Amino acid sequence: MIHLDSLALAAMAAALSAGCSGSDAAPQLTTRSALPTLASLPDENPDPGALEVSMRAETATKQYPGADPTEVWAYAGTVPGPLLEAKVGTELTVHFSNALPEATTIHWHGVRLPAAMDGTMLMQDAIQPGQGFEYSFTLKDAGLFWFHPHVRSDVQVEKGLHGAILVRGKDEPTVDHETVLVLDDVRVNPDGTFPEFLDDASKMMGREGNVLLVNGASGPEIPMQSGALERLRFVNVANGRFFNLRLEGHTLRVIGTDGGLVEQPWDTDTLLIAPGERYDVVLIPIGEPGASITLWNDPYSRGHGTTAAAPEALAAVRLADSVAPTVRSLPSAFPAVEKLPAPPGDVPVVLGEKFDDKGEVVFTINGQAYPNVPVVQTAKGSVRTLAVKNDSDMDHPFHLHGFFFQRQSDTGTLKNKDTIIVKAHESMALTARFDEPGKWVYHCHILEHAEGGMIGELDVQ
Ligand code: C2O
Ligand code: CU
Repeated sequence: MIHLDSLALAAMAAALSAGCSGSDAAPQLTTRSALPTLASLPDENPDPGALEVSMRAETATKQYPGADPTEVWAYAGTVPGPLLEAKVGTELTVHFSNALPEATTIHWHGVRLPAAMDGTMLMQDAIQPGQGFEYSFTLKDAGLFWFHPHVRSDVQVEKGLHGAILVRGKDEPTVDHETVLVLDDVRVNPDGTFPEFLDDASKMMGREGNVLLVNGASGPEIPMQSGALERLRFVNVANGRFFNLRLEGHTLRVIGTDGGLVEQPWDTDTLLIAPGERYDVVLIPIGEPGASITLWNDPYSRGHGTTAAAPEALAAVRLADSVAPTVRSLPSAFPAVEKLPAPPGDVPVVLGEKFDDKGEVVFTINGQAYPNVPVVQTAKGSVRTLAVKNDSDMDHPFHLHGFFFQRQSDTGTLKNKDTIIVKAHESMALTARFDEPGKWVYHCHILEHAEGGMIGELDVQ
């Protein structure tokens, strides 16, 4: 393992923070736009147990603040892509067509499905321009999931290809309003183009944008009502940015995460969400009718001396002119999550970084970069524990396709996760039941890290 030169890294870190707060930063907004409603697609199947949609990936134009119009890549013409909403148990069919100038696939992040539908190139050929593919699978779990390409994901997701899937179960709390919030950032040049080449800091840390976005808008107003029970469903679709949320003067109650509701909700003043993760929170906002409450993105250092700048205003909650008519209370318990057995970690997954002979940073698993990472074989139905160890100086959001995992010795309530922050030099035991055959991947969800080698393969037979 080559040790990284700390001076070079400090310089990269400085460049990274300068890039985020310096001259190419987005101008401060004086007026706020309303939170965009996520698009939806018409259901082509009258069967209430089925959701069948047609969706095309295509180029579109989007206006980011402080820049000329940008050519984006979009599902159904919108960034973010459409929100797919269904009940648990629904058979989802997506007639997908690729009108992009390059090949793509769709990966259904967090959804437990047959491997052939997972959208990795281990299981399907990339869908060429002008071609299509029919994705079809049952939505087995309630929760907020999302979809994005698994080909050149660092480029394709950044260009706008991502959308959310909201699956409702039978234990949903009764709330006054529920809002899906897609958190993102993009790096756009003043002429509206995306930078063609990554600077060293972005290669090292994953690219962070100069425009922060909530449902595709910069600094929007999220409508809420004082005294009402509000439910917010967050997904972070950014390439590299971690969002560390804080709603001025309010505590958030976390009721669920990637794999659905948790038995014991917990309260927090800040909510850290890495790329790929989801959180489900409730709150009862309190304030004067009409008041505006800032949703901050607080500094968080994810390693290599990236001292983040000051808090940034991500959005504002705008309270309605009326208050909720009756007293609400926050939900405090949900049905128990089934606990997996906890065998010792016998699948080593060491996350590392090194420089190759050309001086380019390479991200590794067990010392190798994909596709040279040795394949993990496991029997169908086996319960195995990944001994994940972060051997690098920065956090990596570890993501497993196709299965939820549970962190052994997790503090607090049991959680089904598919993406988890493994902090710099942290180790953790993650247990999953590999009950679906096929070839799967696991990887860091900083997309520049995944594309830079931090992907491993898992073969369940
Ligand atoms: Cu959302 Cu393989 O990733
Ligand atoms: Cu990483």
